[in-house]
Amino acid sequence: MKTITSILSLQKILSSYRGKKRIGLVPTMGAFHDGHLALMRTAKKECDIVIVSLFVNPLQFGPSEDLKRYPRDLARDSKMAESVGVDFLFAPMASAIVPPDLDTTISVSQVTKRWEGAARPAHFAGVATIVAKLFQIIKPDAAYFGQKDYQQTVVIRKMAKDLHFDLMLRIRPTVREDLYSGACGLAKSSRNQFLSLSEKASATVLYRALCHAKKRVDKGEQDCTLLQKEVAAIISLEPDVRPDYIAFCHPETLEPVLKILEKTVLLLAVWIGKVRLIDNIILANAPRHASL
Ligand code: PAF
Repeated sequence: MKTITSILSLQKILSSYRGKKRIGLVPTMGAFHDGHLALMRTAKKECDIVIVSLFVNPLQFGPSEDLKRYPRDLARDSKMAESVGVDFLFAPMASAIVPPDLDTTISVSQVTKRWEGAARPAHFAGVATIVAKLFQIIKPDAAYFGQKDYQQTVVIRKMAKDLHFDLMLRIRPTVREDLYSGACGLAKSSRNQFLSLSEKASATVLYRALCHAKKRVDKGEQDCTLLQKEVAAIISLEPDVRPDYIAFCHPETLEPVLKILEKTVLLLAVWIGKVRLIDNIILANAPRHASL
């Protein structure tokens, strides 16, 4: 694996592959965990050349969110990316991507109005701007994102469509802690390292709540107000978990729905101490046939 910091050097290398090899991009901010590695492995299976970008994007941090505290360990991340066969690690200088005279940003309006967009103003403009820059610099054939950041995937899909980016977006399932980890079902996230062991155990309530909703919908429940109350009741069993939102939404517009649609996404955001965690699940309203 080669680590590249210069935009021009990367573009020069990629120009020799373009049109002949399928180029896959996994955009990241580093602090790799199994979720990132799963994206890299899938990219490796589906593409000839895999580039992982590692850029702690200052534009997506709010003034009260600690950009300096964000975990950084290039040596560890390089080893992990190399272990799954990544070809290039693109780790540009902040000044190359976000120069002091940067005057252009991308804002995706409607799908950022609610949920994480409401809790973290300017966050998604920061994400969309950086992802658009990466698409523009690398021009990948495919780009890989995790479903854990569901609203982010919706924002990026909309931005890519609206700006005519010619690439395939691959949204991959959330990777979770396993049964024997003491944090069974907790979605892998760089933020989990800020949780104590007991907070991690409390955080497992998110996945339990999501699974409860899925089970209820699979059995035929369609009333989102009722389901919302049940999910809130499950979360309230963990006193150190403070819900921010529990939202049943249209999977593309992210507008709240009252009745489970053919496809509905349940979005959760909670605080545990100073750590904000998000998770989600897709609920499918299976068509009911008269014979069933
Ligand atoms: O999901 C992330 O790690 C970041 O939001 C992304 C997509 C790399 C943009 O900075």
